[in-house]
Amino acid sequence: MRYPKWAANNRYIEAVARSTHNLLLTRDCDIFQGCGETTNSTSRFTYKTMVNKITVVGAGNVGATAAQRIAEKELARTVVMVDVADGVPQGKGLDQWESAPIEGFDSRVVGTNGYDETAGSDIVVITAGIARKPGMSRDDLLNTNAGIVKSVSEQIARSSPNAIIIVVSNPLDVMCYVAKHVTGFPRERVIGMAGVLDTARYRSFIALELNVSVKDIQAMVLGGHGDTMVPLISYTTVSGIPVTQLMKRDKLDAIVDRARNGGAEIVKFLKTGSAYYAPSSGAVQMVEAIVLDQKRILPCSAWLDGEYGMKGLFLGVPVKLGRNGMEQILEIELTADEKAALAKSAEAVREPMSVIKL
Ligand SMILES: NC(=O)c1ccc[n+]([C@@H]2O[C@H](COP(=O)([O-])OP(=O)(O)OC[C@H]3O[C@@H](n4cnc5c(N)ncnc54)[C@H](O)[C@@H]3O)[C@@H](O)[C@H]2O)c1
Repeated sequence: MRYPKWAANNRYIEAVARSTHNLLLTRDCDIFQGCGETTNSTSRFTYKTMVNKITVVGAGNVGATAAQRIAEKELARTVVMVDVADGVPQGKGLDQWESAPIEGFDSRVVGTNGYDETAGSDIVVITAGIARKPGMSRDDLLNTNAGIVKSVSEQIARSSPNAIIIVVSNPLDVMCYVAKHVTGFPRERVIGMAGVLDTARYRSFIALELNVSVKDIQAMVLGGHGDTMVPLISYTTVSGIPVTQLMKRDKLDAIVDRARNGGAEIVKFLKTGSAYYAPSSGAVQMVEAIVLDQKRILPCSAWLDGEYGMKGLFLGVPVKLGRNGMEQILEIELTADEKAALAKSAEAVREPMSVIKL
């Protein structure tokens, strides 16, 4: 029998991962703290671990909320927030750290205006940019955010050349392209967050309509992040029951439409700024899947290289997320309508891609 490195004695130890607190409770009630790479090679031990450093670029609404969620889940020893606004990341970082004794997390949160503190990050979440204002489309953000993501990506490539990047800034699929192009990172290490959010919105509306737990709604929204997203009704189930058996088609169509306009619905309420609680949850779900090597299948924006008959663009597709980042793109069967919708969505991504200058 092989033992993990920290198990110094030769007793048989049955380790049980305990909630989100990075603790190991053994059969003998010994408690071990695990940090860093998983040492398990027996598959008998499943336990939570954390990476050394996660950087969140942009300490605005999405970025600061994501940093806080990452710290509260103790996914990294250190969480660094970077922003160009003088004092903002420092103030928010300190404020979050001061919540640690109450919330009970040990991830150290710091804020900075430079990249020295971010050096050697395992994961970098890019949320820098301007957010949508009422009446503004995601594509209106194109040129401003392309310039911002370009400069951020240059800094990341220099300071954290081995990082896995999760892009959140809009227009999402195009900003992923900017990050990949500028850093030269392989496609496994540049992934976009949009499908997780779009799917969460779709699932939340179905749960409301059916008055059932959100946990029992399985669904997948593919395509570009925008009005052309492709919710897959044929893959939407409630605990395995096709949703079409539980809901009339017109209700479902209304839900699809609401999910498609989910971002705009929030912008209309807020008037200034856009959604950030659900978007930060989406980004952190991806971070968690990577840190904990969960091999989760989530809809993410990935660089296509022939999958779904497309090449040379980022598009939302089902991917497997694990410790190596985007570990696999799953090619699933689509109906003729879904294929057509995905192709249309790809066009909506290619168009802005062609106008940005890098
Ligand atoms: N992918 C998605 O599903 C999704 C969802 C919500 C928001 N977003 C996008 O995320 C981005 C952030 O949204 P938000 O609500 O947090 O906006 P925000 O305005 O609250 O925060 C953006 C932050 O970026 C900072 N910033 C600007 N230039 C920078 C640079 N060069 N380096 C570092 N920081 C810089 C700003 O100072 C600001 O603090 C926007 O582009 C928004 O459209 C995407």
